[in-house]
Amino acid sequence: MCGIVGYIGTKKACPILIAGLTRLEYRGYDSAGISTIENNGLSIMKDKGRVSNLSSLKGIDDLEGTIGIAHTRWATHGKPSRENSHPHQDNSKSFSVVHNGIIENYSELKNFLEENGYKFYSQTDTEVIPNLIHYYYEKDSGNDVLRFLKAVRNACSDLRGSFAIEVISSHYPENMIVVRKDSPLVIGTCESEKYISSDIPAILSYTRDFYLLDDLEFVLLANNNARFFDNDLNEFDKKTTNIEWNAAAAEKDGYDDFMLKEIFEQPTAIRETIGSHISSDYDCDFDELNFSKTDLENINKIFIIACGTAMHAGLVGKIAFERLCRIPVEVDIASEFRYRNPIIDEHTLCIFISQSGETADTIAALKLAKSSNATTIAITNVVGSSITREADISVYTHAGPEIAVASTKAYTSQVVLIDLLAIYFAKILNRVDSEYLVDVTKDILSLPKKIEETLNCKNQVYDFAKKIYQEKDIFFLGRGIDETVAKEGSLKLKEISYIHSESYAAGELKHGPIALIENGVTVIGIMTDSSLVKKTISNLQEVITRGAKTLIITSQVIDKDMFDVVITIPESSTFTSPILSIIPLQLLAYYISKEKGLDVDKPRNLAKSVTVE
Ligand code: F6R
Repeated sequence: MCGIVGYIGTKKACPILIAGLTRLEYRGYDSAGISTIENNGLSIMKDKGRVSNLSSLKGIDDLEGTIGIAHTRWATHGKPSRENSHPHQDNSKSFSVVHNGIIENYSELKNFLEENGYKFYSQTDTEVIPNLIHYYYEKDSGNDVLRFLKAVRNACSDLRGSFAIEVISSHYPENMIVVRKDSPLVIGTCESEKYISSDIPAILSYTRDFYLLDDLEFVLLANNNARFFDNDLNEFDKKTTNIEWNAAAAEKDGYDDFMLKEIFEQPTAIRETIGSHISSDYDCDFDELNFSKTDLENINKIFIIACGTAMHAGLVGKIAFERLCRIPVEVDIASEFRYRNPIIDEHTLCIFISQSGETADTIAALKLAKSSNATTIAITNVVGSSITREADISVYTHAGPEIAVASTKAYTSQVVLIDLLAIYFAKILNRVDSEYLVDVTKDILSLPKKIEETLNCKNQVYDFAKKIYQEKDIFFLGRGIDETVAKEGSLKLKEISYIHSESYAAGELKHGPIALIENGVTVIGIMTDSSLVKKTISNLQEVITRGAKTLIITSQVIDKDMFDVVITIPESSTFTSPILSIIPLQLLAYYISKEKGLDVDKPRNLAKSVTVE
């Protein structure tokens, strides 16, 4: 939820850290701070507010140090304030620490440290870390760098919860130590420089060679080397991974906002997701999967588990797996799944969807599924993310970095990938006609072109957004697959426009929520399923009678005069229609947010990667 950057090299650290924080601001933007190693000790500059606030602090341009750590915060313990901003220091001011995650036993540790004479100046859980490091450092002797390393390791052994931390010390002006547990952290490496970050895109412009850290690997950094130690402080070698994303993918590239860019990147993103999974004779395959017919026949239940938008992609996956593989599927919100004692055994397949691969609830649910002997597959966008280290098998959406907090291209690429997985399973299980599978496969291949066509609705959506941007409540209705899109459209609108919205199965409206429909309220209807269109029209008729304004997204031939605005999208199968029908709704949320003058890419209270439970 917070963003961490670090630099150790030959250049001035401060501008590099500020640039990295600016790129990471989507992870949290309540406050920001940096600490560098200067000739006279550790500098520390921090304040509440955005990174731009930090970069205008008096004296920041005077920092000369070539080693530094930095942080942009999404507050958990303690309100946004200078005292609660990171970096935090120990009482002697010889250790500076930035931290992402939550220390669950911090009050216990704080009591212990207070009993040992330490004082605390913030309400954060993080402040125990530099003081614990100091405590263990003082218990040891000698001056070699292993004393520093041991102190950090001993402090980490006392921490319960999740953490990614960077530590610098005035005692060791040429080093930095970093470590993670259940929180993301990567190290980019190039000759005589190391870049540390919570996320790859923030440092992609410097290098494509990364060390992807596992939990509790302690890294002792100097500008020309990185030494890796396990939890017993045995040194080991670690290989770098080359990341294929290019740096331009993490820039706005002429667009006003990342979200708009990412909406318009969807044709390319989907081409990348399809990648080489479909052959010229429409056969669907996954090199990373090796299921036999018997393996799949042994699966009697599938759970798809995720949060937010990723969960909405899972709802489409349910329809694909049930129709093509004839296996019952349950879709669960990760934070609920864990606590409802789900029935899982070795005949269960659990599919976890996470763009970031770092969502704490999803990872915790994955650990639970594994402990009950289920087979686990992770669908993610981020190579080497935490989820890929936990799951039995990982498959990648290859959508490129998604920077805007509101997920767009990640959702559509997740839907495509889960459709492809369902087709691949269906081919092996042979429970539906093979020609039907070829038709579904062809439909997936036609998507990039159809998305391009759908994006042409941009002006029509913009005009409608200008009419309704001041409204207080908006309703989204659909049946079948269209209800899953209603949910996603409603979420998108809420998170970036702050307009209250509800999504409903169209037939359910008259069982209660229709009481909320009054003259002038906006109702958005999604109708792509020819077998349900008449029924949905009847439900819309009910709201029109009560004075609602209507926007319709449809691939069907309907009487347009009945509605205020009708956006026509290309026809496609049940499995792919959400990828098209969501596009006008993504654009609607975007334009409403712009009309209201809001920060589209960084909506209030939200962060891109939710690494706390
Ligand atoms: C909404 C959104 C969130 C995420 C959710 C899961 O636009 O982005 O609802 O979908 O927080 O995140 P990941 O996919 O990273 O696990």
